[in-house]
Amino acid sequence: MASYQEQLKTDMQRLEKMLQRVVAPQISTKQCATTIDDSTRILNLACGSCNEAGTLTDFFANLKALDQPEAEQKIELLGIDVRAREIADAQRRFPSGKDSAQNIQKDYQFLTGDASKLDSHRALDEHFDVVFMRHQNFYNGGRVWEEIFEQALSKLKQDGQLVITSYFDEEHQLALNAIQKLGGQLVDSQQNLESRKLPTAGKSIDRHVAVFRRKD
Ligand SMILES: C[S@@+](CC[C@H](N)C(=O)[O-])C[C@H]1O[C@@H](n2cnc3c(N)ncnc32)[C@H](O)[C@@H]1O
Repeated sequence: MASYQEQLKTDMQRLEKMLQRVVAPQISTKQCATTIDDSTRILNLACGSCNEAGTLTDFFANLKALDQPEAEQKIELLGIDVRAREIADAQRRFPSGKDSAQNIQKDYQFLTGDASKLDSHRALDEHFDVVFMRHQNFYNGGRVWEEIFEQALSKLKQDGQLVITSYFDEEHQLALNAIQKLGGQLVDSQQNLESRKLPTAGKSIDRHVAVFRRKD
């Protein structure tokens, strides 16, 4: 049986493949080129321990590098979750710094806080290129998650993308409906056929991935 670390590594490789398939086609060369000197800013809501932090920063840096392979890529990721212990874990595992091998400057910030009330955080004054929610949990608290989705859409730059993943089919569909009602334009949604099954029937890791833009 695979160890936890091996499972995590495989989950991240599969997530990266899904992002290549679903998210990469939505990012135009123009968008990469115009932001090449700026940081790409990623907001990860309800991030827990943020296992995907390195996968996300590498993925978006590599997309930009397709346009200007020699340029240093700057990527910022800000994660927020109500669970202080998970946030402390993320802070320990993902220090900011320069990845010289890949020429990427990665800046990580992890905050303990309520993602349905982002306006109370000064670090969240600006808008983001990408808002990410892995394993959104709409099924276990519809009202709070509607508020989180609302905040997610409001923190997107005009041409930014909201990306969600879900553990199971019904929860994914509920989230798709709710986000569209709140002003999200569904761009694509795909099932991850390689997703790792969990002990609960019908649940698996990153089972679905969807991308939205703002309608306005
Ligand atoms: C299903 S877990 C997903 C965690 C992580 N994204 C992952 O994929 O492993 C849902 C997460 O939502 C967080 N959460 C629930 N309500 C929240 C809120 N109001 N603000 C911030 N995080 C919240 C929980 O603490 C939990 O970490």
